[in-house]
Amino acid sequence: MAASIGTWSFGLAAVEAASRTLETGKDVVSAVEEGINIVETDESVTSVGLSGLPNSSGEVELDAAIMDGYSLRFGAVAAMKRIDRPISVARKVLEESPHSLIVGEGATQFALQHGFTLQPDRSEAKPSSEESHCHDTMSLIVMDKKGNLAVGVSTSGAANKHPGRVGDSPLPGSGLYVDNKVGAAAATGDGDDIMKFCCSFQIVQYLKQGLDVQSACDKIIDDIAERIGAENMFEVAVIAMDTKGRYGAAGTVKSFTDDKSSIQYPGFPYAVWHQETEPLPKILVQPPKDLLPKDTRIT
Ligand code: GLY
Repeated sequence: MAASIGTWSFGLAAVEAASRTLETGKDVVSAVEEGINIVETDESVTSVGLSGLPNSSGEVELDAAIMDGYSLRFGAVAAMKRIDRPISVARKVLEESPHSLIVGEGATQFALQHGFTLQPDRSEAKPSSEESHCHDTMSLIVMDKKGNLAVGVSTSGAANKHPGRVGDSPLPGSGLYVDNKVGAAAATGDGDDIMKFCCSFQIVQYLKQGLDVQSACDKIIDDIAERIGAENMFEVAVIAMDTKGRYGAAGTVKSFTDDKSSIQYPGFPYAVWHQETEPLPKILVQPPKDLLPKDTRIT
């Protein structure tokens, strides 16, 4: 049963595009790529693609990754400048490179060698203090009717970051993970913290151990809170899908305002489509998880 889930309200356009791609008979990796391309090229989205927020030198550096649940092939780019549609470059790494992750100037060179064109340098002023906490990743999971799964992520990373900083998104197991035999997961939020917990791999392991998809998402958030203390929790949200296309989401996001519509969501908005249960793609909102005030930090 075909299905898709994507992070944030801007993920609705990605989920819609992915479902259309599947209808044309293309595979799940293409559906992830084409879904994310829609958001990467939407200039109203300020945390993905070349219209993302710049680093502390005023330059936009992009991270993206894509993984195929059938073959476990993985491709990613990080800290890549001046190239549009980074998820498409990540796909080229997956399909046409012996490597898995290419960064910085090497990523830009790789893109140019594979037919991408250098975009104008859009060096900008530093983001405002309101924008500077922004690190909202477009994360997208797609399943086709045969049960093949793929996942992709794309982000400009933390606003005002140090040049060369890379977050969780392009790291396999942290920002994304998928295995056709088990399920898929992806993360968004503060990547400097998320990467310490390998959230996406851990969720897929919980699915493998028999947890249902919502419980697996809830458990990783509880695990983190238990380890560092609820009072130290950072912004994180996860999405996941099992081999039946059932989905789940959890996180600490208290509210989110959509840049385009100005709608304020009371929690973490995410977009879903499921051929049987949600035939029309729609946005759901996951309230922030209640965290147990149990502090097991090692002092
Ligand atoms: N999760 C995106 C980042 O922090 O880079």
